[in-house]
This record gives sequence, structure tokens and C-alpha cells, in this order.
Amino acid sequence: MFSRSIKIAPSILAADFANFGAECRAIEAQGADWVHVDVMDGHFVPNLTFGPAMCAALRPHIKGVMDVHLMISPVDVYLEAYAKAGADVITAHVEAGPHIHRTLQAIRGLGKKAGVALNPGTPAEAVAELLDMVDMVCVMTVNPGFGGQSFIESQLAKIARLRQMIGDREVHIEIDGGVTVATAPLVSKAGADVLVAGSAVFKGGSAEAPEAYGANIRAIRAAAEAALA
Ligand code: DX5
Ligand code: ZN
Repeated sequence: MFSRSIKIAPSILAADFANFGAECRAIEAQGADWVHVDVMDGHFVPNLTFGPAMCAALRPHIKGVMDVHLMISPVDVYLEAYAKAGADVITAHVEAGPHIHRTLQAIRGLGKKAGVALNPGTPAEAVAELLDMVDMVCVMTVNPGFGGQSFIESQLAKIARLRQMIGDREVHIEIDGGVTVATAPLVSKAGADVLVAGSAVFKGGSAEAPEAYGANIRAIRAAAEAALA
């Protein structure tokens, strides 16, 4: 089941907030592999987004993987609620508290895939002791909190380092922030396989006219795959 093929995960942070159900159906119909849901608490990051009830409401509109990125602290108290809301992958930040190991154990204990995310200022080595207990490492290529920011190039060396550290383990590398047709080849070449993209997927389209979503997803995928050929 595990594969390092390129997966495109549109972030609904860039969707029409008055139309999430239709937006999720549209991006999947247009070729999205995963749907990325950015949960923000106004404390760990300076923005507020979706609670568990929102995720539960979205679940019936998502056929594939619901990838829930928790940018919240504390995080442990909310894991069960997001698991019950139907998340397939739950990602917590290594910076969110002193007990990321316990958090990851709890996510797996809830029967979900566990992801660990690193902010741009956190070195790859911060997850060295966690690689046997995660299904994904998420490398933030912007400072979390907002969509539409520029890709931080210095993270490329970190992605390559993580790819080396992961070795043969069945652990995805997800890239989150500033992924575009221009940056996708850089991250795939460095070893990433899950590419989150918000603004670059949703630009130019809508749930009523979703063809642009499809064209954007295909262009990002093609750019990422071309770098591997
Ligand atoms: C940032 C979020 C990202 C963001 C990506 O805090 O975790 O998922 O929405 O948006 P773009 O692709 O626009 O950088
Ligand atoms: Zn995210």
C-alpha cells in the first residue's frame, strides 16, 4: 500500500470558506490525492480555523484521505475529537509541547496514521528518535499560520537530510507551504512525496468552474514528477 509516488494534497485554507463541501468534492474530482485540513488555534499560530465539528462535517464530502494538520498547543486533549471526526492522518508539531512522543503514540492508539511536523527553524534531527513511530514527516516550508506565503529555500537541505534519515522506513515526507509549479520539482528531487498546495491549486477556479483546479493539480504533479525522471 505504501508508495513514494507524488501525491498532491490541496489545502482547503485556500478554498471558498462559504462552500467547503463542494470545494472538497471539486478538488477530488479534479485529481487531488489527499485533502489537507489546516487546524489553527490562535496560540501556536497567529490564526484560527477549523474545529473537530468542521472536520466531521467535511468527512462525507471527502472520498480519499483526510489529512489533518494540527497547528495547536496543547494538542493531546483534542486528538480523540479529530480522530472521531474522521481524520485519516493526524499531524502534530514537534514544537507543540514537551511530549511529542506521547502525542504520536496517542494518534496511533486511536488507529490513525501519525505525522510529525517541523517548523522552518527546527532541525531535521528533532525527529530522529521518532522515525519508527510515524507514518509521515511534514516539513513546513513557510512559517505556519497563513496560506500564500513564499517558499523558504533553505528547507531543501532539511528535506534531503530527512529522506536520508528515513532510509527504508515506510514514512512519507510531506511539504507544506509555498508549493507551486516552480518549487514542486525542488522538493520532489529532495525526497518529498506528499505536496500540500493551497493557493497554487485553488487559483483561477471555483467549485462551479473547477477545471482550473484540475489544470493546477496536473501542472504541479507534472513538475514534481519531471524532476524524478
Ligand atoms: C500554513 C498551512 C499550509 C498552507 C499552504 O500554515 O499549513 O497548509 O495553507 O498554503 P500555500 O500553498 O498557499 O502556501
Ligand atoms: Zn498545513
